[in-house]
Amino acid sequence: MSQRSSVACAPRRWRAAVAAARRLAVRLVVASAVALIATPSAVRASDAAPAQTTVTTSTTAAINALGEALFSDPRLSPDGRFSCASCHRPDAAFAEPGVARQRGRDGLPLATNAPSLIGLAPRGPFRHDGGAPTLAAQVVVPLLADNEMANRSLAAVAERLAGDPDVVAAFIVAFGGGPTGERVVTALVAHLRSLQAQATPYDRFRAGDRTALSPAAARGLALFRGPAGCAACHLLDGSFRDGRFHDTGIAARRSRRPFPDGLRPSEGRIAVTGQPADRYRVRTPGLRAVALTPPYMHDGSIRSLEAVVRYYAAGGAAHAGLSPLIAPFAVDDRDVADLVAFLEAVGGETPRGEFSGGEVLNAEGRPSAPVSAAPAE
Ligand code: HEC
Ligand code: HEC
Repeated sequence: MSQRSSVACAPRRWRAAVAAARRLAVRLVVASAVALIATPSAVRASDAAPAQTTVTTSTTAAINALGEALFSDPRLSPDGRFSCASCHRPDAAFAEPGVARQRGRDGLPLATNAPSLIGLAPRGPFRHDGGAPTLAAQVVVPLLADNEMANRSLAAVAERLAGDPDVVAAFIVAFGGGPTGERVVTALVAHLRSLQAQATPYDRFRAGDRTALSPAAARGLALFRGPAGCAACHLLDGSFRDGRFHDTGIAARRSRRPFPDGLRPSEGRIAVTGQPADRYRVRTPGLRAVALTPPYMHDGSIRSLEAVVRYYAAGGAAHAGLSPLIAPFAVDDRDVADLVAFLEAVGGETPRGEFSGGEVLNAEGRPSAPVSAAPAE
């Protein structure tokens, strides 16, 4: 977890947020004044729209800056131990590479892997099982959950923040008033919305630059949309998701091998709908920045992108409810490397390192031997 570094950076980050907010406020005032001067007194309401647009844009930027500062501020938790960045590292696509399941306040792993927050879906539901209908609902979860930040209420968070004049100033610029629980959530949601994949080789390719993908990645794309069948669920519309829930065998496999720490594994979508058909169905994740966030899957049970590709090529973990869209396909080592190259072109280069905080399974679904490093691509 990176909480120590976020503590160290907090004052600097807040000063930056306040400075950004002040600059925006100045621009806001200037823009409004210019708009007023430029607007004859007898205008119709609709002519005043440009001034209003400027106001909205500047306010949005101030709210984003506030949300960004809040995200990494350990004062979000009463004991100062957790910020959002503890489990969603801003320097690692807002996931926590190398950790299968993040640790909660009790020091034990949570039930699921913290996903990257890059390129969140425009609409919910959020979480692996779709348990949060909106982003605002999801943001409240870690703030209040007993085993995460454990705040008594959102008002308690706001009260704590109100003790710092810099923080209050940033709220005033963004919202015209000091911290409230609702404003904390609004700012965090605005920040989450702003986290989009930067122009990756794949984005440049989609925009028409046919040379943007390496030959290996281009072959990988052909496999992804063709024989490997990945694009049936990870749509090639830039989002790499379909907004649906599928049984890819991961949750079923996990149910046969409960966590060594005794925590009940997630059974997927059924927890939300109660429908037996939804047992083991998990939301299709977008793959933006996927190369930066091993290990993979909702339980963090697959160590590398190469292992993910081999898992799918073997037809997933066979069982009655497995999605008919998951079927074995033939690959040689070059095909696997090509698919991995394509996934890397979608965002990020595979990091290497230690794995902890959970149990990574091998191709047979058994715990892997202790891992020291992800395999080289
Ligand atoms: C202790 C670790 C931890 C902390 C702290 C934490 N999260 Fe998470 N976060 C997770 C885990 C684990 C999940 C996956 C939950 C699930 O779907 O089962 C998650 C899921 C999410 C999601 C859903 C993403 C998606 O694709 O549906 C969002 C959004 C999110 N977190 C935002 C935040 C914000 C904002 C904060 C700070 C207020 C925060 N998280 C704090 C561990 C954490
Ligand atoms: C039937 C729909 C479906 C198909 C086909 C499919 N996926 Fe997935 N994919 C999913 C779902 C659902 C998950 C989440 C599973 C989980 O977390 O347990 C997932 C997870 C992943 C992940 C892990 C992402 C993360 O952040 O943990 C990667 C990588 C991935 N898929 C790549 C592929 C590739 C490559 C193919 C083709 C060989 C493919 N998928 C085919 C639905 C599908």
